[in-house]
Amino acid sequence: MAESMKGLKRTHRCGELSAANIGETVTVMGWVQKQRNKGGIIFVDLRDRAGILQVIFEEADCGQEVFAKAERLRSEFVVAVEGRVERRSGAVNENLATGEIEVRATSARILSEAETPPFPIEADSKTKEELRLKYRYLDLRRPDLQRNLMLRSRMTAAVHAFLKEEGFLEVETPILNKSTPEGARDYLVPSRIHHGCFYALPQSPQIFKQLLMCSGYDRYFQIAKCFRDEDLRADRQPEFTQIDMEMSFVDMEDVIDVTERMVAKVCQDAIGLEIPLPIRRMTWNEAMNRFGSDKPDTRFGMELVDVSGTVAGCGFGVFTGALEAGGSVRGINVKGQAEMPRKKIDGLVEFAKGYGVKGLAYLAVLGDGSFKSSFAKFMTEEELKRLVEAMGGEPGDLLLFAADRLKLVWSVLGALRVELAKQLGLLDDNVYHFLWVTEFPQFEWSDEEERYVAMHHPFTMPMEEDLELLETEPGKVRAKAYDIVVNGMELGGGSVRIFQSDVQERMFQALGFTKEKAHEQFGFLMDAFKYGVPPHAGLAIGLERFVMQLAHTDNIRDVIAFPKIKDASCLMSEAPGTVDEKQLEELHLQITE
Ligand code: AMO
Ligand code: AMP
Repeated sequence: MAESMKGLKRTHRCGELSAANIGETVTVMGWVQKQRNKGGIIFVDLRDRAGILQVIFEEADCGQEVFAKAERLRSEFVVAVEGRVERRSGAVNENLATGEIEVRATSARILSEAETPPFPIEADSKTKEELRLKYRYLDLRRPDLQRNLMLRSRMTAAVHAFLKEEGFLEVETPILNKSTPEGARDYLVPSRIHHGCFYALPQSPQIFKQLLMCSGYDRYFQIAKCFRDEDLRADRQPEFTQIDMEMSFVDMEDVIDVTERMVAKVCQDAIGLEIPLPIRRMTWNEAMNRFGSDKPDTRFGMELVDVSGTVAGCGFGVFTGALEAGGSVRGINVKGQAEMPRKKIDGLVEFAKGYGVKGLAYLAVLGDGSFKSSFAKFMTEEELKRLVEAMGGEPGDLLLFAADRLKLVWSVLGALRVELAKQLGLLDDNVYHFLWVTEFPQFEWSDEEERYVAMHHPFTMPMEEDLELLETEPGKVRAKAYDIVVNGMELGGGSVRIFQSDVQERMFQALGFTKEKAHEQFGFLMDAFKYGVPPHAGLAIGLERFVMQLAHTDNIRDVIAFPKIKDASCLMSEAPGTVDEKQLEELHLQITE
C-alpha cells in the first residue's frame, strides 16, 4: 500500500550527503537498492540519481511501526526516510561517495511498492542488452546510464553557454519538410490534406540554416534532431542529434576556430579534460595515404606504405596483376608480431576479405632473418629484401599486404590497422587525438548510380583553384569541406557553402541534376540566393558520438535515453507499429502485400 508524501519535503539527494552533513536531520527519498535484516537492525541502501546512501533502522530510534515497514522493504520500493546523519558505525565503504556516513532513520514512508525487476539494477550489468532495452525505464535506473545521460546534459549545457557567449542565436527549424539532400534515405510522413504527398523528416537542418544566413541571422545554432533511414552501425541511429551551426561572412578558418574552442570548452566543463589547441590538421589525401581512412585514429602508428613501385615486375602474380589492372599494392608493418600464430593470421585474412579483397598476403621476418610467408616462394631473395626494406621491416616484424583497387586497399588496410591495434591493446581510452581532415574530394563516383555524387553535400564550395576542373575533371576537384575526427571516429563535419547562383548551378549540373530537378528540389534556396546572400559556412557535430567519446563507450545506445536497435525498432514501445484501417484511409494509403 502506497503512502503519500504529504507534509514531507526532500532535503537532499541520497548521494549528495557527506561527512559535512553529520549531525543534521535530513529527509531523503529514493529506491531501495538492497535491504539487509540483521535481526534487531535493518540496513537499507537507498538510491537516487546522485548515488547510494546507507540507512539504518533500529526500533529504539524509529519505533515499532516504522521498523515493521523497514522489514517489508524489497528492492526497488520507493521510500521516504527522515533521520539523522551519523558517522558510520561499521567499516567505511571506500566505494561509495557517501561511504563515511549513514542515516539513522527516525521515520519512513513507503511511497510505492515494486515487483521484483526482471534484472538487477546495478552498474556494469551482465544482463543481455535486449532485455535491458525492453525494460529501458529500469535500465535507465542503472548508474552507468545515469552517468552517461548526466554527462550528455552537462555537454549540451556547455554548448549553449559557449555558443551564446560567441554570439550564436538558437533557432529551431521544422521537422516536417521536403526532402533534404544529405544522401541518406528519408523518413517520410504522409500528408492527410495533400493527397499523395509526403513530408520528409530532416536529415539535417542544412537548407534552413543556409536560409537563415540569407535572412541575416549571422550566427545560428541548434541542438537538432536529425533522421536518416540508413543501415545502422555501432555509431549510427536512425534518429540522432546534431550540434548544428552556421556562420556568415566567414571562411573555413573561422568555423574551425569556433568549433575547436567549443569542443575544448565542452571537454573541460563536462569531464575536466584539457584539449590542446589548435587541433592538428591533415588533408584528406594525406589521411588516406598514411592511414587508409578519412577518419584516422592517430593514437598509434602502423601507417600504410605504398610498395607498388617496389613490387612492380616481381614474380608474385597477385601483386603484379593488381598493378596491371591499375590498382595498388600497400602494406602495414605490425611491429614485433612475426610470431603471430597462423590461426590468428588466418583470422586477419578473413577480416580483410570482409572488406572485399580476395586475400591478404603476409610476410613474417623471423629472428634469424628468414621468412615465413604466404608468397615468398614467388619472389627472388633480392625482391623480398627490397620489399622488407621498403616496409622498414626488422627481424620480429609481421608485414601484411593488400593488392587491389586503391580505394579498396585503403579501406581494408585502414580497417586492419585499427583491428590490430584493438587486438594488441594499443588503444588508450584516456588519450584523445583530435584531428581536422581538410580538402576532401568534392565528388565521389557512385557505381550504383553511375554518376558523381557529392561527398559532403551539393552546397559545398569547391576550392577556388579547382573550380575550373568542375566540368572537365570533376574527380580532381577538392572541396572546402572539413571533418573533425577523434580517435578514429568522425565527430562532425561541415563546409564553406556555395553562395553564387552560377557556381551552384554548375554544381548541380556536375551532379547530374537537370535544371528542372534542381529547381524542384532546391528552388527556394536558389531563389533566396537571388536576393542578397552573405558568404557563409558551417558545421555539425554528432552529439551522441561526442558523448560516446567522453563516456568511454563504443555503443551509441549507451548515450541515448530511448534508443532503437539495429532494425530501427524500439524494443520497449515496439515502434514502429501498424495503424488502424481508418488512419490509412485518411492518409489515402493502402498496404500492399
Ligand atoms: P554530416 O552528414 O556529416 O553533415 O553529419 C554531421 C555529423 O552527424 C553525425 N551523424 C550521425 N550520428 C549518429 N547517427 C547517424 N545516423 C549519424 N549521421 C551523422 C556524425 C556526423 O559527423 N548538414 C551537414 C553539416 C554541415 O555541413 O554543416 C551534415 O549533416 O557525427
Ligand atoms: P593465391 O595465389 O590466390 O593462393 O594467393 C597467394 C597469397 O596471396 C595468399 O596468401 C592470398 O591470401 C594472397 N592474396 C590473394 N589475393 C590478394 C590480394 N588482393 N592482396 C593481397 N594478397 C592477396
